Amino acid sequence: MPRVLSCIQPTGSVHLGNYLGALVNWVSGQHDGNVYHGIVDLHALTVTESPQVLGNQTIELAAMLFAVGLDPNVATVFVQSHIHEHSELAWIMECTVSFGELSRMTQFKDKSAKREGEFISAGLFTYPALQAADILLYDADEVPVGEDQRQHIEITRDIAVRFNHRFGDTFVLPKAVHPKAGARVMDLQDPTSKMSKSATTDSGIIYMLDDNATIDKKFKRAVTDSDGVVIYDREKKPGVANLLDILAAATNTPVETLATKYTQYGPLKNDAGDAVVALLDPIRTRYHELMNDRGELARLLSIGNDRAREVAAQTLGRAHQAIGLLPRI
Ligand code: TYM
Repeated sequence: MPRVLSCIQPTGSVHLGNYLGALVNWVSGQHDGNVYHGIVDLHALTVTESPQVLGNQTIELAAMLFAVGLDPNVATVFVQSHIHEHSELAWIMECTVSFGELSRMTQFKDKSAKREGEFISAGLFTYPALQAADILLYDADEVPVGEDQRQHIEITRDIAVRFNHRFGDTFVLPKAVHPKAGARVMDLQDPTSKMSKSATTDSGIIYMLDDNATIDKKFKRAVTDSDGVVIYDREKKPGVANLLDILAAATNTPVETLATKYTQYGPLKNDAGDAVVALLDPIRTRYHELMNDRGELARLLSIGNDRAREVAAQTLGRAHQAIGLLPRI
């Protein structure tokens, strides 16, 4: 069975892009591999400035991960800051990646440009080193992520290759796995940008906790184009293609089949909205049940934390040994 690892940041609310691009596959894949899923609060710290926010967002995200169907007895769900090996291996990764490589990361360029004039943490720049640590600590063969994470997995491979070359075979080389449908869910108001927590307005983002009427309204108001023909063409008709992609992912139907079924935008928007409502409604109910039982949530998380700690400690030990750090006295 392959080792599978993927993580998500507890920043803002989970949205349909996270769900269709990542979480659906985490759930469907949990029986096909030895899977690890982290709530990466230390990554969120790169942009967090208010006290007492991250902990709440971490527990909310944990409830969401269990609500979408991750089974703590099957999948290892853990909190990154509870496994100190992540920070420790991240430093070693920082010493294995170059300033030039980090400077070429598009996420750093985008995020720092958006924060122009504001505080830009060094952590935002070294972020990929921590992500490499997340992945390599668990000897992951596969990392299921949306398209936006491609560059991060490539740099992780580069770091692993360099480390293995310098210090001997230590880390498994991971590969990114992208879902067929939903790999890139776009903003409903700006279908040339990905649906993202950092968008300026909420009207193009479907949040997992939006109520049914809100979801319906957001789909009805989705931006399309003026030529009125339903064709799947991401370049020329990004709005229509996004609706088709979402409907395809939500109903598990090939996008080509769907494209021939519609002649007008109205019914396509309605069906996409209905399909997403049907998908999210039961998840929301389960989420609220879990949030009302904090003791149970903590218990579920501790199962994953214990399992993650065991693996992470072994891998970090292997890395220290390969480098030849003086064994602990
Ligand atoms: P994050 O928290 O931004 O997103 C979590 C997952 O959701 C996917 N995703 C999307 N997929 C399709 N369409 C979208 N609009 C969309 N928006 C987000 C992301 O691709 C991701 O799979 N750096 C990572 C977190 C991370 C990580 C890791 C991931 C830290 N360490 C180790 C994998 C392995 C991030 O910010 O994801």
